[in-house]
Amino acid sequence: MKLWGGRFQKETDELVNELNESISFDQRLYRQDIAGSKAHAEMLGKQGIIPQDDVAAIQAGLDGILADVEAGKVEFTTDNEDIHMNIETLLTQRIGDAGKRLHTARSRNDQVAVDFRMYVREELQSIIPEILDLQAALCEQAEQYQDAVMPGYTHLQRAQPITFAQHLMAYANMFCRDVTRLEDCIDRMNESPLGSCALAGTTYPIDRQMTAAALGFTKGPMMNTLDGVSDRDYALECMSDLSILMMHLSRFSEEIILWCSWEFKYIELDDAYSTGSSIMPQKKNPDVAELVRGKTGRVYGDLMSLLTVMKGLPLAYNKDMQEDKEPVFDAIDTVRMCLPVFTGMIRTMRVLPQNMRAAANKGFINATDCADYLTKKGMPFRDAYTTVGDLVYHCTESGKTLEDLTLEELKTISPLFEEDVFAALNMENCAAQRASFGGPAKAETTRQINYIRDFIAAHQAQEE
Ligand code: ARG
Repeated sequence: MKLWGGRFQKETDELVNELNESISFDQRLYRQDIAGSKAHAEMLGKQGIIPQDDVAAIQAGLDGILADVEAGKVEFTTDNEDIHMNIETLLTQRIGDAGKRLHTARSRNDQVAVDFRMYVREELQSIIPEILDLQAALCEQAEQYQDAVMPGYTHLQRAQPITFAQHLMAYANMFCRDVTRLEDCIDRMNESPLGSCALAGTTYPIDRQMTAAALGFTKGPMMNTLDGVSDRDYALECMSDLSILMMHLSRFSEEIILWCSWEFKYIELDDAYSTGSSIMPQKKNPDVAELVRGKTGRVYGDLMSLLTVMKGLPLAYNKDMQEDKEPVFDAIDTVRMCLPVFTGMIRTMRVLPQNMRAAANKGFINATDCADYLTKKGMPFRDAYTTVGDLVYHCTESGKTLEDLTLEELKTISPLFEEDVFAALNMENCAAQRASFGGPAKAETTRQINYIRDFIAAHQAQEE
Protein backbone atom coordinates (compact mmCIF):
# COMPACT_ATOMS: atom_id res chain seq x y z
CA MET A 1 0.00 0.00 0.00
CA LYS A 2 1.36 3.39 -1.01
CA LEU A 3 1.84 6.21 1.49
CA TRP A 4 -0.83 8.08 -0.41
CA GLY A 5 -2.88 4.92 -1.04
CA GLY A 6 -5.94 5.85 1.06
CA ARG A 7 -7.93 7.48 -1.71
CA PHE A 8 -7.21 4.73 -4.24
CA GLN A 9 -9.11 1.49 -4.97
CA LYS A 10 -6.64 0.09 -7.50
CA GLU A 11 -2.94 -0.62 -7.72
CA THR A 12 -0.89 1.78 -9.82
CA ASP A 13 -0.09 0.47 -13.27
CA GLU A 14 3.46 -0.89 -13.41
CA LEU A 15 4.47 1.44 -16.25
CA VAL A 16 3.05 4.42 -14.36
CA ASN A 17 5.21 3.46 -11.42
CA GLU A 18 8.20 3.45 -13.71
CA LEU A 19 7.37 6.86 -15.12
CA ASN A 20 6.51 8.34 -11.76
CA GLU A 21 9.47 7.22 -9.67
CA SER A 22 12.44 9.46 -8.96
CA ILE A 23 14.22 7.33 -6.38
CA SER A 24 16.58 6.02 -9.07
CA PHE A 25 18.14 9.47 -9.26
CA ASP A 26 17.02 11.46 -6.20
CA GLN A 27 18.47 8.94 -3.72
CA ARG A 28 21.59 11.04 -3.70
CA LEU A 29 19.58 13.61 -1.69
CA TYR A 30 19.32 11.25 1.30
CA ARG A 31 21.58 13.33 3.56
CA GLN A 32 19.72 16.54 2.86
CA ASP A 33 16.37 14.80 3.26
CA ILE A 34 17.34 13.43 6.65
CA ALA A 35 18.78 16.78 7.79
CA GLY A 36 15.56 18.52 6.68
CA SER A 37 13.41 15.99 8.53
CA LYS A 38 15.45 16.29 11.69
CA ALA A 39 15.13 20.09 11.69
CA HIS A 40 11.40 19.81 11.02
CA ALA A 41 10.88 17.26 13.84
CA GLU A 42 12.85 19.39 16.29
CA MET A 43 10.67 22.37 15.43
CA LEU A 44 7.42 20.36 15.73
CA GLY A 45 8.52 19.31 19.20
CA LYS A 46 9.50 22.77 20.35
CA GLN A 47 6.19 24.19 19.13
CA GLY A 48 4.26 21.50 20.98
CA ILE A 49 2.85 20.11 17.71
CA ILE A 50 4.13 16.59 18.40
CA PRO A 51 5.27 15.06 21.74
CA GLN A 52 8.96 15.34 22.71
CA ASP A 53 9.18 11.56 23.06
CA ASP A 54 8.27 11.23 19.42
CA VAL A 55 10.87 13.82 18.49
CA ALA A 56 13.56 11.78 20.25
CA ALA A 57 12.42 8.58 18.51
CA ILE A 58 12.37 10.33 15.13
CA GLN A 59 15.87 11.76 15.60
CA ALA A 60 17.31 8.40 16.67
CA GLY A 61 15.47 6.63 13.85
CA LEU A 62 16.73 9.08 11.23
CA ASP A 63 20.29 8.84 12.55
CA GLY A 64 20.06 5.07 12.24
CA ILE A 65 18.77 5.30 8.69
CA LEU A 66 21.57 7.73 7.78
CA ALA A 67 24.20 5.37 9.15
CA ASP A 68 22.66 2.41 7.34
CA VAL A 69 22.39 4.23 4.01
CA GLU A 70 26.00 5.25 4.35
CA ALA A 71 27.00 1.68 5.14
CA GLY A 72 25.17 0.51 2.02
CA LYS A 73 22.63 -1.43 4.10
CA VAL A 74 19.49 0.27 2.79
CA GLU A 75 17.76 -0.73 -0.39
CA PHE A 76 15.55 1.96 -1.78
CA THR A 77 12.50 0.86 -3.73
CA THR A 78 10.54 2.36 -6.59
CA ASP A 79 7.39 1.29 -4.75
CA ASN A 80 8.07 4.24 -2.51
CA GLU A 81 8.53 6.55 -5.47
CA ASP A 82 11.13 9.01 -4.22
CA ILE A 83 13.73 9.63 -1.54
CA HIS A 84 11.23 11.42 0.70
CA MET A 85 8.74 8.55 0.84
CA ASN A 86 11.46 5.91 1.02
CA ILE A 87 12.91 7.46 4.14
CA GLU A 88 9.55 8.18 5.76
CA THR A 89 8.39 4.62 5.13
CA LEU A 90 11.62 3.20 6.48
CA LEU A 91 11.35 5.40 9.56
CA THR A 92 7.82 4.24 10.30
CA GLN A 93 8.84 0.60 9.80
CA ARG A 94 11.54 1.15 12.39
CA ILE A 95 9.87 3.35 15.04
CA GLY A 96 6.12 2.95 14.46
CA ASP A 97 3.61 5.73 15.12
CA ALA A 98 6.18 8.42 15.93
CA GLY A 99 7.38 8.06 12.33
CA LYS A 100 3.84 8.72 11.11
CA ARG A 101 3.82 12.06 12.98
CA LEU A 102 6.88 13.42 11.15
CA HIS A 103 4.91 14.58 8.12
CA THR A 104 2.65 16.86 10.19
CA ALA A 105 2.65 20.40 8.77
CA ARG A 106 4.88 19.44 5.86
CA SER A 107 4.65 18.22 2.28
CA ARG A 108 6.95 16.53 -0.20
CA ASN A 109 6.88 19.75 -2.21
CA ASP A 110 8.47 21.29 0.85
CA GLN A 111 10.95 18.47 1.16
CA VAL A 112 12.11 18.40 -2.41
CA ALA A 113 12.49 22.18 -2.41
CA VAL A 114 14.58 22.25 0.73
CA ASP A 115 16.65 19.12 -0.04
CA PHE A 116 17.53 20.20 -3.54
CA ARG A 117 18.42 23.70 -2.47
CA MET A 118 20.79 22.38 0.20
CA TYR A 119 22.33 19.98 -2.30
CA VAL A 120 22.99 22.70 -4.87
CA ARG A 121 24.37 25.02 -2.21
CA GLU A 122 26.78 22.36 -0.97
CA GLU A 123 27.96 21.34 -4.42
CA LEU A 124 28.58 24.91 -5.51
CA GLN A 125 30.55 25.50 -2.33
CA SER A 126 32.76 22.55 -3.23
CA ILE A 127 33.31 23.74 -6.81
CA ILE A 128 34.72 27.12 -5.74
CA PRO A 129 38.01 25.71 -4.28
CA GLU A 130 38.51 23.79 -7.54
CA ILE A 131 38.36 27.03 -9.52
CA LEU A 132 40.73 28.69 -7.05
CA ASP A 133 43.19 25.83 -7.55
CA LEU A 134 43.06 26.31 -11.31
CA GLN A 135 43.82 29.99 -10.78
CA ALA A 136 46.78 29.03 -8.59
CA ALA A 137 48.12 26.78 -11.37
CA LEU A 138 47.76 29.68 -13.82
CA CYS A 139 49.76 31.94 -11.49
CA GLU A 140 52.51 29.30 -11.20
CA GLN A 141 52.84 29.08 -14.97
CA ALA A 142 52.43 32.80 -15.64
CA GLU A 143 55.10 33.74 -13.15
CA GLN A 144 57.70 31.86 -15.22
CA TYR A 145 56.71 33.34 -18.56
CA GLN A 146 56.40 37.05 -17.96
CA ASP A 147 59.12 37.72 -20.54
CA ALA A 148 57.91 35.12 -23.03
CA VAL A 149 56.84 37.20 -26.02
CA MET A 150 54.14 35.69 -28.18
CA PRO A 151 51.77 37.01 -30.81
CA GLY A 152 48.44 38.14 -29.46
CA TYR A 153 45.64 37.40 -31.91
CA THR A 154 42.45 38.91 -33.22
CA HIS A 155 40.47 36.94 -35.82
CA LEU A 156 43.11 34.27 -35.09
CA GLN A 157 45.49 36.50 -37.07
CA ARG A 158 48.70 37.64 -35.42
CA ALA A 159 47.95 41.10 -34.11
CA GLN A 160 50.26 42.60 -31.48
CA PRO A 161 53.02 41.35 -29.18
CA ILE A 162 51.92 40.13 -25.76
CA THR A 163 53.46 37.70 -23.27
CA PHE A 164 52.35 34.22 -22.35
CA ALA A 165 51.87 35.44 -18.77
CA GLN A 166 49.38 38.05 -19.90
CA HIS A 167 47.49 35.52 -21.96
CA LEU A 168 47.17 33.15 -18.98
CA MET A 169 46.13 35.97 -16.68
CA ALA A 170 43.25 36.80 -19.02
CA TYR A 171 41.78 33.41 -18.13
CA ALA A 172 42.59 33.83 -14.44
CA ASN A 173 40.46 36.97 -14.47
CA MET A 174 37.52 35.17 -16.10
CA PHE A 175 37.71 32.57 -13.34
CA CYS A 176 37.49 35.34 -10.70
CA ARG A 177 34.12 36.22 -12.16
CA ASP A 178 33.11 32.55 -12.15
CA VAL A 179 33.94 32.33 -8.45
CA THR A 180 32.04 35.46 -7.52
CA ARG A 181 29.10 34.41 -9.70
CA LEU A 182 28.86 31.15 -7.76
CA GLU A 183 29.18 33.01 -4.46
CA ASP A 184 26.38 35.36 -5.52
CA CYS A 185 24.25 32.40 -6.52
CA ILE A 186 24.83 30.70 -3.16
CA ASP A 187 24.02 33.92 -1.37
CA ARG A 188 20.79 34.48 -3.29
CA MET A 189 19.52 30.92 -2.83
CA ASN A 190 20.36 30.85 0.86
CA GLU A 191 16.76 31.10 2.11
CA SER A 192 14.56 28.29 3.26
CA PRO A 193 11.41 27.05 1.51
CA LEU A 194 10.69 24.62 4.39
CA GLY A 195 7.31 25.29 5.98
CA SER A 196 5.73 26.32 2.69
CA CYS A 197 3.98 22.95 3.04
CA ALA A 198 2.03 21.85 -0.03
CA LEU A 199 1.74 25.45 -1.23
CA ALA A 200 -0.41 27.36 1.21
CA GLY A 201 1.44 27.21 4.50
CA THR A 202 -0.33 25.57 7.43
CA THR A 203 -2.73 26.08 10.29
CA TYR A 204 -0.16 24.65 12.73
CA PRO A 205 1.97 27.14 14.68
CA ILE A 206 5.21 26.21 12.90
CA ASP A 207 8.43 28.20 13.32
CA ARG A 208 10.01 28.64 9.91
CA GLN A 209 12.78 30.86 11.29
CA MET A 210 13.89 28.00 13.47
CA THR A 211 14.13 25.41 10.68
CA ALA A 212 15.80 27.94 8.36
CA ALA A 213 18.49 28.62 10.97
CA ALA A 214 18.96 24.93 11.77
CA LEU A 215 19.59 24.17 8.09
CA GLY A 216 22.05 27.04 7.62
CA PHE A 217 19.80 29.28 5.51
CA THR A 218 21.38 32.57 6.45
CA LYS A 219 18.60 34.65 4.86
CA GLY A 220 15.82 32.99 6.85
CA PRO A 221 12.58 31.54 5.46
CA MET A 222 11.32 32.38 1.98
CA MET A 223 8.75 35.15 2.05
CA ASN A 224 5.91 33.47 0.14
CA THR A 225 4.86 29.83 0.41
CA LEU A 226 3.70 29.51 -3.21
CA ASP A 227 7.05 30.84 -4.35
CA GLY A 228 8.77 28.57 -1.84
CA VAL A 229 7.56 25.35 -3.47
CA SER A 230 7.58 26.64 -7.08
CA ASP A 231 10.96 28.28 -7.30
CA ARG A 232 13.73 26.56 -9.23
CA ASP A 233 15.59 29.78 -10.09
CA TYR A 234 18.54 28.67 -8.00
CA ALA A 235 18.93 25.51 -10.07
CA LEU A 236 18.77 27.53 -13.28
CA GLU A 237 21.18 30.10 -11.93
CA CYS A 238 23.54 27.33 -10.85
CA MET A 239 23.50 25.85 -14.35
CA SER A 240 23.83 29.28 -15.98
CA ASP A 241 26.90 29.97 -13.89
CA LEU A 242 28.31 26.53 -14.63
CA SER A 243 27.61 27.06 -18.35
CA ILE A 244 29.60 30.28 -18.32
CA LEU A 245 32.42 28.57 -16.42
CA MET A 246 32.43 25.74 -18.98
CA MET A 247 32.41 28.28 -21.80
CA HIS A 248 35.62 29.72 -20.35
CA LEU A 249 37.16 26.27 -20.00
CA SER A 250 36.07 25.48 -23.54
CA ARG A 251 37.69 28.57 -25.05
CA PHE A 252 40.83 27.78 -23.11
CA SER A 253 40.65 24.17 -24.33
CA GLU A 254 40.40 25.35 -27.90
CA GLU A 255 43.61 27.34 -27.44
CA ILE A 256 45.36 24.41 -25.75
CA ILE A 257 44.42 22.26 -28.72
CA LEU A 258 45.79 24.84 -31.16
CA TRP A 259 48.91 25.44 -29.08
CA CYS A 260 49.94 21.80 -29.00
CA SER A 261 49.41 21.32 -32.75
CA TRP A 262 52.54 21.24 -34.91
CA GLU A 263 51.24 24.42 -36.54
CA PHE A 264 51.81 26.30 -33.26
CA LYS A 265 53.82 24.10 -30.86
CA TYR A 266 53.65 26.71 -28.11
CA ILE A 267 53.19 24.04 -25.47
CA GLU A 268 53.50 20.32 -24.97
CA LEU A 269 51.08 18.52 -22.71
CA ASP A 270 52.38 16.11 -20.12
CA ASP A 271 52.12 12.42 -21.04
CA ALA A 272 49.80 11.92 -18.08
CA TYR A 273 47.34 14.37 -19.65
CA SER A 274 47.54 13.17 -23.26
CA THR A 275 46.36 10.12 -25.15
CA GLY A 276 47.67 8.18 -28.12
CA SER A 277 46.24 6.85 -31.33
CA SER A 278 45.50 3.18 -31.99
CA ILE A 279 47.05 3.36 -35.45
CA MET A 280 49.32 6.41 -35.77
CA PRO A 281 52.38 5.75 -33.61
CA GLN A 282 53.51 9.38 -33.56
CA LYS A 283 50.26 10.80 -32.19
CA LYS A 284 49.89 12.56 -28.86
CA ASN A 285 46.39 13.92 -28.64
CA PRO A 286 44.92 16.63 -26.38
CA ASP A 287 41.85 14.56 -25.48
CA VAL A 288 41.43 16.23 -22.09
CA ALA A 289 41.00 19.64 -23.69
CA GLU A 290 38.77 18.21 -26.41
CA LEU A 291 36.54 16.46 -23.88
CA VAL A 292 36.21 19.60 -21.76
CA ARG A 293 35.25 21.49 -24.93
CA GLY A 294 32.80 18.71 -25.80
CA LYS A 295 31.28 18.44 -22.33
CA THR A 296 30.56 22.16 -22.40
CA GLY A 297 27.78 21.28 -24.83
CA ARG A 298 26.14 18.93 -22.38
CA VAL A 299 26.18 21.50 -19.57
CA TYR A 300 24.49 24.01 -21.89
CA GLY A 301 21.98 21.26 -22.72
CA ASP A 302 21.29 20.69 -19.03
CA LEU A 303 20.51 24.39 -18.60
CA MET A 304 18.25 24.43 -21.66
CA SER A 305 16.32 21.37 -20.55
CA LEU A 306 15.35 22.85 -17.18
CA LEU A 307 14.57 26.25 -18.68
CA THR A 308 12.25 24.43 -21.04
CA VAL A 309 10.66 22.36 -18.26
CA MET A 310 9.92 25.48 -16.22
CA LYS A 311 8.50 27.69 -18.94
CA GLY A 312 4.75 27.72 -18.86
CA LEU A 313 4.32 25.96 -15.50
CA PRO A 314 1.46 27.40 -13.45
CA LEU A 315 1.94 27.90 -9.72
CA ALA A 316 2.64 26.11 -7.52
CA TYR A 317 4.23 22.62 -7.69
CA ASN A 318 3.80 20.51 -10.83
CA LYS A 319 5.21 17.04 -11.31
CA ASP A 320 7.11 18.32 -14.35
CA MET A 321 9.46 19.78 -11.77
CA GLN A 322 10.72 16.32 -10.87
CA GLU A 323 12.70 16.75 -14.11
CA ASP A 324 14.80 19.41 -12.36
CA LYS A 325 17.24 17.05 -10.72
CA GLU A 326 18.93 15.05 -13.46
CA PRO A 327 20.18 18.03 -15.48
CA VAL A 328 21.50 19.73 -12.34
CA PHE A 329 23.22 16.55 -11.17
CA ASP A 330 24.71 16.11 -14.62
CA ALA A 331 25.93 19.70 -14.89
CA ILE A 332 27.50 19.58 -11.43
CA ASP A 333 29.06 16.13 -11.98
CA THR A 334 30.47 17.25 -15.32
CA VAL A 335 32.05 20.40 -13.93
CA ARG A 336 33.43 18.52 -10.96
CA MET A 337 34.98 15.96 -13.29
CA CYS A 338 36.45 18.52 -15.68
CA LEU A 339 37.93 21.10 -13.32
CA PRO A 340 40.63 19.10 -11.48
CA VAL A 341 41.75 17.35 -14.67
CA PHE A 342 41.97 20.67 -16.49
CA THR A 343 44.01 22.10 -13.62
CA GLY A 344 46.39 19.15 -13.71
CA MET A 345 46.81 19.61 -17.45
CA ILE A 346 47.69 23.31 -17.01
CA ARG A 347 49.97 22.71 -14.06
CA THR A 348 52.03 20.06 -15.90
CA MET A 349 52.12 21.48 -19.42
CA ARG A 350 55.55 22.30 -20.84
CA VAL A 351 55.74 25.77 -22.32
CA LEU A 352 57.92 26.32 -25.40
CA PRO A 353 58.64 30.06 -25.35
CA GLN A 354 61.15 29.81 -28.22
CA ASN A 355 58.34 28.77 -30.57
CA MET A 356 56.13 31.62 -29.40
CA ARG A 357 59.02 34.00 -29.98
CA ALA A 358 59.61 32.60 -33.49
CA ALA A 359 55.92 33.06 -34.30
CA ALA A 360 56.13 36.64 -33.08
CA ASN A 361 58.71 37.36 -35.82
CA LYS A 362 56.22 36.66 -38.55
CA GLY A 363 53.04 38.54 -39.18
CA PHE A 364 54.23 42.13 -38.65
CA ILE A 365 52.87 42.26 -35.13
CA ASN A 366 55.10 45.30 -34.46
CA ALA A 367 53.40 47.31 -37.21
CA THR A 368 51.34 49.29 -34.69
CA ASP A 369 54.55 50.02 -32.80
CA CYS A 370 56.09 51.29 -36.04
CA ALA A 371 53.13 53.60 -36.61
CA ASP A 372 53.32 54.75 -33.00
CA TYR A 373 57.03 55.50 -33.56
CA LEU A 374 56.26 57.83 -36.46
CA THR A 375 53.39 59.39 -34.52
CA LYS A 376 55.67 60.14 -31.60
CA LYS A 377 58.06 61.79 -34.11
CA GLY A 378 55.29 64.16 -35.17
CA MET A 379 53.37 62.43 -37.97
CA PRO A 380 49.58 62.33 -37.44
CA PHE A 381 48.58 58.75 -36.47
CA ARG A 382 46.31 58.19 -39.47
CA ASP A 383 49.17 59.13 -41.85
CA ALA A 384 51.59 56.94 -39.92
CA TYR A 385 49.09 54.08 -40.21
CA THR A 386 49.00 54.41 -44.02
CA THR A 387 52.78 54.79 -44.28
CA VAL A 388 53.38 51.60 -42.30
CA GLY A 389 50.71 49.80 -44.31
CA ASP A 390 52.74 50.69 -47.38
CA LEU A 391 55.91 49.38 -45.71
CA VAL A 392 54.20 46.11 -44.81
CA TYR A 393 53.02 45.73 -48.39
CA HIS A 394 56.57 46.12 -49.69
CA CYS A 395 57.91 43.72 -47.05
CA THR A 396 55.42 41.01 -48.04
CA GLU A 397 56.54 41.45 -51.66
CA SER A 398 60.22 41.05 -50.74
CA GLY A 399 59.77 38.49 -47.96
CA LYS A 400 61.22 40.75 -45.28
CA THR A 401 60.17 41.84 -41.82
CA LEU A 402 59.97 45.51 -40.79
CA GLU A 403 63.15 45.19 -38.75
CA ASP A 404 64.96 43.61 -41.76
CA LEU A 405 64.75 46.93 -43.61
CA THR A 406 67.79 49.21 -43.54
CA LEU A 407 67.57 52.75 -42.23
CA GLU A 408 68.14 53.98 -45.81
CA GLU A 409 65.19 51.94 -47.07
CA LEU A 410 63.03 53.23 -44.23
CA LYS A 411 64.06 56.82 -44.89
CA THR A 412 62.89 56.58 -48.51
CA ILE A 413 59.40 56.10 -47.03
CA SER A 414 59.69 58.78 -44.34
CA PRO A 415 62.55 61.04 -43.24
CA LEU A 416 61.26 60.72 -39.68
CA PHE A 417 62.86 57.27 -39.33
CA GLU A 418 66.11 57.37 -37.34
CA GLU A 419 68.48 54.85 -35.80
CA ASP A 420 66.25 54.43 -32.72
CA VAL A 421 63.54 52.82 -34.88
CA PHE A 422 65.20 49.44 -34.47
CA ALA A 423 64.80 49.54 -30.72
CA ALA A 424 61.20 50.56 -31.22
CA LEU A 425 60.59 47.54 -33.48
CA ASN A 426 62.31 45.02 -31.21
CA MET A 427 59.62 42.54 -30.10
CA GLU A 428 60.78 42.36 -26.49
CA ASN A 429 60.61 46.15 -26.27
CA CYS A 430 57.24 46.20 -27.97
CA ALA A 431 55.79 43.94 -25.28
CA ALA A 432 57.71 45.54 -22.42
CA GLN A 433 56.64 49.05 -23.37
CA ARG A 434 52.97 48.18 -23.29
CA ALA A 435 52.94 49.24 -19.67
CA SER A 436 49.46 50.72 -19.63
CA PHE A 437 47.21 49.33 -16.88
CA GLY A 438 46.45 45.66 -17.61
CA GLY A 439 49.03 45.35 -20.40
CA PRO A 440 51.79 42.76 -21.00
CA ALA A 441 54.68 44.75 -19.43
CA LYS A 442 56.29 42.76 -16.63
CA ALA A 443 55.30 45.23 -13.89
CA GLU A 444 51.70 44.84 -15.04
CA THR A 445 51.66 41.04 -15.23
CA THR A 446 53.32 40.94 -11.80
CA ARG A 447 50.53 43.17 -10.50
CA GLN A 448 47.96 40.84 -12.07
CA ILE A 449 49.54 37.70 -10.64
CA ASN A 450 49.60 39.31 -7.19
CA TYR A 451 45.99 40.35 -7.59
CA ILE A 452 44.93 36.80 -8.45
CA ARG A 453 46.93 35.37 -5.55
CA ASP A 454 45.24 37.81 -3.15
CA PHE A 455 41.89 36.86 -4.65
CA ILE A 456 42.59 33.16 -4.10
CA ALA A 457 43.62 33.76 -0.47
CA ALA A 458 40.59 35.94 0.25
CA HIS A 459 38.12 33.49 -1.25
CA GLN A 460 39.75 30.47 0.34
CA ALA A 461 39.31 32.20 3.68
CA GLN A 462 35.68 32.91 2.83
CA GLU A 463 35.08 29.22 2.09
CA GLU A 464 36.38 28.14 5.48
N1 ARG B 1 9.73 13.33 -6.30
C1 ARG B 1 9.12 14.62 -6.34
C2 ARG B 1 10.03 15.59 -7.10
O1 ARG B 1 11.17 15.25 -7.26
C3 ARG B 1 8.91 15.14 -4.96
C4 ARG B 1 7.75 16.04 -4.82
C5 ARG B 1 6.49 15.32 -5.08
N2 ARG B 1 5.33 16.13 -4.81
C6 ARG B 1 4.16 15.80 -5.25
N3 ARG B 1 3.21 16.63 -5.00
N4 ARG B 1 3.97 14.72 -5.96
O2 ARG B 1 9.63 16.63 -7.53
